[in-house]
Formats: sequence, C-alpha cells, structure tokens
Amino acid sequence: MTKIIRTAVVGTRFMGRAHAAGIDDLNRFFDLDAVVEKTVLCGVNEEHTKQMAETLGFKEYSTDFQSLIVRDDIDAFHICTPVYEHFNQSMAALLCKKHVLCEKPLTPTVQEAEALAYAAGESGMVHQVAHNYRYMPAVRLAAQMIKKGLLGDLYHFRGVYAQDWGMGDGAFSWRFQKDKAGAGALGDIGSHLIDLALYLCGDITRVAATMQTFKKERPLAADKGEGIVKEADGSGQMGIVDVDDAFCATAEFACGAIGTLEASRFATGNKNGLRFEIDGEKGAISFDLMKLNELQYFDATAPRALQGWRTIQVTEEGVHPYAGLRWPVGHQLGWADSFANEFYAFYSAILNGTHSTPDFGDALRIARVIDAIERSHYSQGFEEV
Ligand SMILES: NC(=O)c1ccc[n+]([C@@H]2O[C@H](COP(=O)([O-])OP(=O)(O)OC[C@H]3O[C@@H](n4cnc5c(N)ncnc54)[C@H](O)[C@@H]3O)[C@@H](O)[C@H]2O)c1
Repeated sequence: MTKIIRTAVVGTRFMGRAHAAGIDDLNRFFDLDAVVEKTVLCGVNEEHTKQMAETLGFKEYSTDFQSLIVRDDIDAFHICTPVYEHFNQSMAALLCKKHVLCEKPLTPTVQEAEALAYAAGESGMVHQVAHNYRYMPAVRLAAQMIKKGLLGDLYHFRGVYAQDWGMGDGAFSWRFQKDKAGAGALGDIGSHLIDLALYLCGDITRVAATMQTFKKERPLAADKGEGIVKEADGSGQMGIVDVDDAFCATAEFACGAIGTLEASRFATGNKNGLRFEIDGEKGAISFDLMKLNELQYFDATAPRALQGWRTIQVTEEGVHPYAGLRWPVGHQLGWADSFANEFYAFYSAILNGTHSTPDFGDALRIARVIDAIERSHYSQGFEEV
C-alpha cells in the first residue's frame, strides 16, 4: 500500500501557494515512495483560507494553528508565514514531533535561530529551511563542479540579489519592521544570497558592511484580514521603516577566498536579479537567475587559443541535476520548479530517517552572517562571524 505523508501548509499567500504547487509537482514527477497529502491549509481569515484551500486542493482548512500541531494525523508542517511567526510555529511543531520545513529567514534574531537550531537537533525530526535557490539545477551543477575541483582553489565570490519593488509608495508591511522581519533586504533576499555563498564556498569568517534605508517612512497599509501587503489605508498616517532597504558587504571565507555580497529593494529595473560569479585557480562560473537553465563556465586550463566562456544548458537527462524528471532535454524549467526539488530532499529524509539540507543549523550560520553584517554597519569596521 502506498505510504501517505500528511502535511499542513501554514500561510495562504505567495509562499503558501508556491509550496502547495510544489507538493503537487513532487507527487506528479518524482519517484518518492509515498504520496504527500495536502491535508490542511492554515491561515488567518476564515473565508479567504477556505477559498484558498479549495482552489489549491487541500482536504481541509483551519484558522487555528495550535489545534493542528497536536493532531496525530499530521506528519509535517510547511511554515510559510511572516518571519515573526517562524520561531513559535516551528518550535511548537518540533516539540509536538512534527517534521518542519520553514521559510527563510528562519527567525528575526540570531538568538532565536540558535534556540531553534538546538531544539531541531534534539528533536529527531527532519528540519529544513526553504532556500530553494540551492535546488536549481544550475546551482546544483555549480556545487558539483566546485566539489570536483574544476575551479581549483577559490579566489572570489561576487554575488548580488537585486530587486526594485521597494521603490515607489508601497505600503508599510511586516517586511519594513525590524521586530517582525529581523532585517530588510538583508534578511529577506540577502539570506538567499548568503546561503548560496556558504553552500558554494564554505564558511564566511568576517565581514565589513554598510546598509542604507532610502525610504524612511511608508503609508500604513489596509488590513484585508489575510496579510497586509501593498495598498495604503488612505488615512495619511505613516509607519517608520527601521530595516535596511539595501546592504553591501565584503566578506572573507575560511577557504581563503574573498567576496562581495549585495542586496537591494531599490535596484532600479531589477525585478528578481539574483546573480553570482565564482573565480578559481582553474576556472570560473557565473549564474544569472533570469537565465536559470544556464550555467556559464570558463575553463582556465584549456589551451589559451580556445579559452572563453561557454554556456551549459543544464537540462541533459542523466547528467544534470534533476534533468529528465519532468521534460526532455532543452524543455526548460522555471523558478517554481525548484520547490519540488527542495521538497524531494525534505520528504526523502522523512521516509529514509535521514536529514536534509539546508537545515536549521545552516539557517543559524546564515543568521550569524546577517548579525555580523549589521554589527559591522554600526561599528564601521570588520566584524567576526
Ligand atoms: N523562498 C522564496 O523565494 C520566498 C519568496 C517570498 C517569500 N518568502 C518567505 O516566505 C514567508 C512568507 O512570505 P509571503 O510573501 O507569503 O508573506 P505574506 O505576508 O504575503 O503571507 C503570509 C501568510 O501567512 C499568514 N499568517 C500570518 N500569521 C499567521 C498565523 N499566526 N497562522 C496562520 N497563518 C498566518 C497570512 O495570513 C498570510 O496568508 C516569509 O518568511 C518570506 O520571507 C520566501
């Protein structure tokens, strides 16, 4: 009989929907020895949550998280709520012996990340933080190439995560409040970039950084009962932004490489511009999310007359990571496909009694880099991670 893993997704908006779709993809295309059942969708507003549960194909809906964590018929939780809910929800789920896949950044503060990483380690449950970019085929290939030594010793990591949605008069949401989000662009998209730097180049030992808040107040938002996002409430009242809109950091890695990391919500014209380059002794690689089926590779060991950047299409079945699971070679994947890839790691670990990455310990390493970047901004000097 097919094993069923029963799961609850908490949060009904952007990430709740992305996770629900990723679970569907996982069931359709992957050779998991189980079916992941979308058992409950949990939200805040009853009418909205009910409607979303129907649209996304959940068996049930709920607006009471506490009643879900004690249920015996739920095995795993996807925490897709704002950052300020992650600590309590993930901790409660782990204590109730549930597997937890939590959105990023794991917590607003490094202290909460420490407590959660410790609790997760003690729990015996599978814990993973949702840095989906690690699960893009081109990023996976980059990691394999570095591990095989194709780049030799690493010299540089040059990474940027550039968006421009912060420009204009977008309303005051949880993303602009330090006690709710922990940090601005640094925590929101910077955490993804830091995860990639750590995944590909290893530990960062110290950083020197600066941050900036370009728009210091924003109009209070209209509360529609299910996440407060973009529209001003028309009252004319303003909320004070106490997180960064952008950061730039120089970083030193334990492996000897040096690098730059940058993220912004004010990068004019960039909608979701995640790019990195890694230079090594024997070669270099370059990735651009806007061309996510490609990895650029420069082989510095080739005869000089033949050297040049080459474009690798990462869709070759049996050769490239995750290729062939869905479509034939050259039939390209998109941003959302990384979710099923990351969920495959999570649910395989549950089935096999192993563990998956990036786990809450990895999230703590990211939180420590974020913390060092903030300290460096205020001390105006290098800070140890
Ligand atoms: N991996 C990615 O690419 C990516 C992209 C965007 C956002 N995120 C992360 O995903 C998380 C959610 O982001 P979002 O854009 O979906 O946020 P959002 O504010 O649009 O939606 C949050 C959802 O959580 C629900 N919620 C809030 N408190 C709740 C509670 N106590 N119980 C149940 N539901 C509750 C809200 O009602 C809403 O449905 C954040 O941590 C964010 O950083 C990740």
